[in-house]
Amino acid sequence: MQTVIYKPDNQGIEAAGKILKSGGLVAIPTETVYGLAANALDGQAVSKIFKAKGRPQDNPLIVHISEFEQLFPLVLEVPENAVLLARAFWPGPLTIIMKKSAIIPDEVSAGLDTVAVRMPSHKVARQIISKAGVPLAAPSANISGSPSPTTALHVYNDLSGKISAIVDGGKCDVGLESTVITLNAQVPRILRPGGIPPEKLEQVLDRIDIDDAVLNILSEEEIPSSPGMKYKHYSPKADVTIVKGSLEEFSEYIKQFDNDDLVAALCFDGEEEFIPARCIPYGAHGDSRQQAKRLFSALREEDNIGAKRVFARCPKAQGIGLAVYNRLLRAAAFKVIEL
Ligand code: TXA
Ligand code: MG
Repeated sequence: MQTVIYKPDNQGIEAAGKILKSGGLVAIPTETVYGLAANALDGQAVSKIFKAKGRPQDNPLIVHISEFEQLFPLVLEVPENAVLLARAFWPGPLTIIMKKSAIIPDEVSAGLDTVAVRMPSHKVARQIISKAGVPLAAPSANISGSPSPTTALHVYNDLSGKISAIVDGGKCDVGLESTVITLNAQVPRILRPGGIPPEKLEQVLDRIDIDDAVLNILSEEEIPSSPGMKYKHYSPKADVTIVKGSLEEFSEYIKQFDNDDLVAALCFDGEEEFIPARCIPYGAHGDSRQQAKRLFSALREEDNIGAKRVFARCPKAQGIGLAVYNRLLRAAAFKVIEL
């Protein structure tokens, strides 16, 4: 299959809508990362997503809508907290989990009795959903396990030949995925930190919990609330380790690999000259927004320069930085060195 790349203009949006209507796959830009979309109400179309990505069958998908009214048929009921959250954060990088209705195919919910729904703020994404005329199931448009795609080229590198089309909307603004919160619990709980920081959610809901799996490795026996949390994720081919400590300590640590070309650093802007290794910077030290925006493409860049072992400076885990740290932890398969 030849993968066509469309501009985000009327013609491209029209063509994307047509493919989606007829059961095909199109990668679409969103404000978080590129999504690999299919008609969410067509189980057969949705199963193609799993095949193209190599995604485990038991990992459910997020359903994307462009109007609030589209939510009602997807769920058993719309909880009051969903209305509060939607009013504050939709359209935007927040995914809300609720009890699903019967029209959600098993392929979308992976056998769970819940469905995850999000209304993206990206104009082109919403136009494509409207054109398709149906809600769209869309995971990140990468090969399962690799860093999520924040440009059309990332999508092309992972999925060319496996999907009908990519709509090129340029670089994604947020750069990492939506925050996933479940309302299917006593207390609303964040299953995956993302574009909307927990501090913001706390301003709208009285109480929220953060799932243990956000910062901790799950043991073999534990059943994750979000199936996606049990998989190794977001990782480049290189072996990543997070190194906690000051820049001086980090540089000192890296010195032991001085002549090793296969070792590289993932650092903050301006630190390159102090680190005795090849460096890919991913944002200014205190700037979590920048780090969120650049982390995934910096991880891909490590592979491009041929790094085999990557040592990463540790981000601050506050605000959107919690999501940055969560993604880097998974890229590193939870390997952290404290100096
Ligand atoms: O920003 C985003 O959320 C992007 C863009 C494309 O919208 N999408 C995205 O989808 O990140 P994906 O499939 O890569 O991640 C969805 C996460 C997975 O961890 C999955 O396990 C979880 O959401 N999830 C989906 N439905 C769920 C459900 N019913 N219950 C628990 N977790 C669910
Ligand atoms: Mg993903």
